[in-house]
Amino acid sequence: MKAKKVVSLLMAGAMALSMAACGSTASNSGSSSSGSSSKSTSTSSSKSGGKTVGISMPTKSLERWNRDGSYLKKQFESKGYKVELTYSDNKSAQQNNDIEGLIADKVDVLVVAAIDGEALSQVLGEAKDANIPVISYDRLIMNTDSISYYVSFDNYKVGQLQGNYIKDQLKLDSAGSKKYTIEMTGGDPADNNAPFFFKGAMDVLQPYIDKGVLTVPSGQTKFNQCATDRWDTSTAMKRMQNILGSYYSGGKQLDAALCSNDSTALGVTKAIESDYAGKNKVLITGQDGDEPNLKNIVDGKQSMTVYKAVANEAVVTLDLAIQIMDGKKPDASLIKSSGWKFDCAYDTKSYDNGKGIVPSYLLTPEVVTKDNMDKLLVDTGYYKKGSDGYLKAVG
Ligand code: GAL
Repeated sequence: MKAKKVVSLLMAGAMALSMAACGSTASNSGSSSSGSSSKSTSTSSSKSGGKTVGISMPTKSLERWNRDGSYLKKQFESKGYKVELTYSDNKSAQQNNDIEGLIADKVDVLVVAAIDGEALSQVLGEAKDANIPVISYDRLIMNTDSISYYVSFDNYKVGQLQGNYIKDQLKLDSAGSKKYTIEMTGGDPADNNAPFFFKGAMDVLQPYIDKGVLTVPSGQTKFNQCATDRWDTSTAMKRMQNILGSYYSGGKQLDAALCSNDSTALGVTKAIESDYAGKNKVLITGQDGDEPNLKNIVDGKQSMTVYKAVANEAVVTLDLAIQIMDGKKPDASLIKSSGWKFDCAYDTKSYDNGKGIVPSYLLTPEVVTKDNMDKLLVDTGYYKKGSDGYLKAVG
């Protein structure tokens, strides 16, 4: 694991958030589409002083980024800003080119969700030289002093929610002489979020592994043993198929599969369906509320997902970017003055990107299960429920 990842992990453990109540409503208009790299541009109005926002999203192949891009574009356009939105097909070189293009277009602020958090130092150095402020969106961009702010969710808490879900469902604190088995699937090692998710979960589960209540038959408990390049579903599936073939073919029971997000959970679920002979229901975690996974949760194939209202992440990014473009230096006071109607923390301790602490606005993730899905996802307007009983993202 890269040295900076270790720094991130240590910061995760030392995380101390300055919480503040807040409130606003997020617009739930969004659109989802799939496909490779692309760019879309809109017009601006006088309200924004004709300013332009450059948005660089990683890919359309992972469902959530389609919603992020769509929400961000609609939020800025609703305030009269011109938007240039790019998707870089999960190719880091493509994302560098896309950001070069936005700089050449002289955008007034950059919002970037990095494919590889350590591969943008040079191009964002050019943004700094061009006096273009950069908001690191959702994934912390490393090793550059060009980042003004970081907007994300409490990534360590995402992992804690997954770990605590498994702990509670297996009743590990009252296991007695019972022993349970678990396998871990982590995220993309190039994504600075992935070690935070993994550490949050392992900080909950490791004590039970140490006590022998939880065992890991594959022996794979370190992030770099469990990581999944590009969060790829088939990569996660093949790895789990290998583990099941190697350690569970003799009738051993698998009780839980920790998956850091929904695209990897999809692969692990497919592997369990095809290669696990046990009759028990394996607990499977996820993150993002991707539509195929919400279907699997309704059908009882996946146990939970951690939902992050990216519509609200877009609202925070909008209000932050407007203050920056107006020449202000936002801090915790933005949370109160904005009137947001959702939880948000202003954190100036936890996210060191290798060049120093990046002031961060962190939203709060939530556990979604079959029991609370309608309340948290449908009643809030983020999803609609079809006649088949399955959820579709709004927009
Ligand atoms: C992470 C993001 C998660 C996860 C993954 C896949 O950085 O925070 O929502 O789904 O990327 O894109």
